[in-house]
Amino acid sequence: MAQACEVRRGIALFGAHGQLGRALVRTLAGLGPVHALSHADCDVGDEAAVHATVRRLRPGVIVNAAAYTAVDRAETERAAALRINAEAPGYLADAALSVGAWLVHYSTDYVFDGAAGRAYREDDATAPLNVYGQTKRLGEEAVLARPLTAFVLRTAWLYDREGRNFLTTVQRLAANGPLRIVSDQYGSPTPVTVLAHVTRAILMHPRAAHCAGLYHAACAGVTSWHGFTEAIVRSLGLAVTVSPITTADYPTAARRPAYSVLDGTRLKERLGICLPSWDRALAELFMGAP
Ligand SMILES: NC(=O)c1ccc[n+]([C@@H]2O[C@H](COP(=O)([O-])OP(=O)(O)OC[C@H]3O[C@@H](n4cnc5c(N)ncnc54)[C@H](OP(=O)(O)O)[C@@H]3O)[C@@H](O)[C@H]2O)c1
Repeated sequence: MAQACEVRRGIALFGAHGQLGRALVRTLAGLGPVHALSHADCDVGDEAAVHATVRRLRPGVIVNAAAYTAVDRAETERAAALRINAEAPGYLADAALSVGAWLVHYSTDYVFDGAAGRAYREDDATAPLNVYGQTKRLGEEAVLARPLTAFVLRTAWLYDREGRNFLTTVQRLAANGPLRIVSDQYGSPTPVTVLAHVTRAILMHPRAAHCAGLYHAACAGVTSWHGFTEAIVRSLGLAVTVSPITTADYPTAARRPAYSVLDGTRLKERLGICLPSWDRALAELFMGAP
């Protein structure tokens, strides 16, 4: 029998200082006490530290926003990416099991190779093109293999108005003149605030205990990095030129999928949760929506 969420017992939030972690601290407050744990507070790659932290806090829910997210650097730092993205989720899942807590974990559109040319469903075969995607896929498997109530949310192209992300990079570079941005990689930009609200909605859902599993949770619609940049520049009221370039014009250490759009039907059908379109979400972020 599925166990109800005891969120009032508290939420242990790992990776609380990352861009998603900061949004979760704000959004999950009020559901129960939120124990916001930074990298310095607990290294999720240290199994003993994870267990000691969870034993001490005895949370009702563990939320893992910690990850190795340097996609290009992961190509040469495979061991570090494996430890944090593949092994740590298993430690967190075991710790959750030991105290009867639920686990929320995040994964990525980069588990797909982007060759399908259509939106991916949760049961589509994965085929990551880079080390980051490979390690995130292993992390999903580690969580989903354990017999606990776990939600693995695959998301995409996360950003915020602050911190280090694509939007703030565009903002910084636009001050120096025209931009050249890749126009042949397509995805769905998703503000961290939207994903944090999806997380809250799942934890509050009366039927959540019966709906654990793997979900796609990215904004609806699709654009390219170039299209996203044009929308950012418009939102910022800047008059800078944004020229399209190809992936071949902008070589990176890690290969990236050309079309990594995520189909959100499962989240809508099972939990009634719909994410806004990427352009509406961007507009709302600039209007200061919560
Ligand atoms: N960013 C995207 O575009 C994107 C896209 C799809 C999916 N995702 C997924 O979404 C989730 C959140 O990503 P994000 O963009 O918020 O990442 P982020 O801003 O890079 O934050 C990751 C956080 O994890 C912490 N961390 C790293 N190693 C750790 C360790 N060993 N122990 C404890 N904490 C550690 C980092 O702290 P330090 O900086 O102090 O090390 C940082 O605060 C991740 O699962 C990511 O894979 C992200």
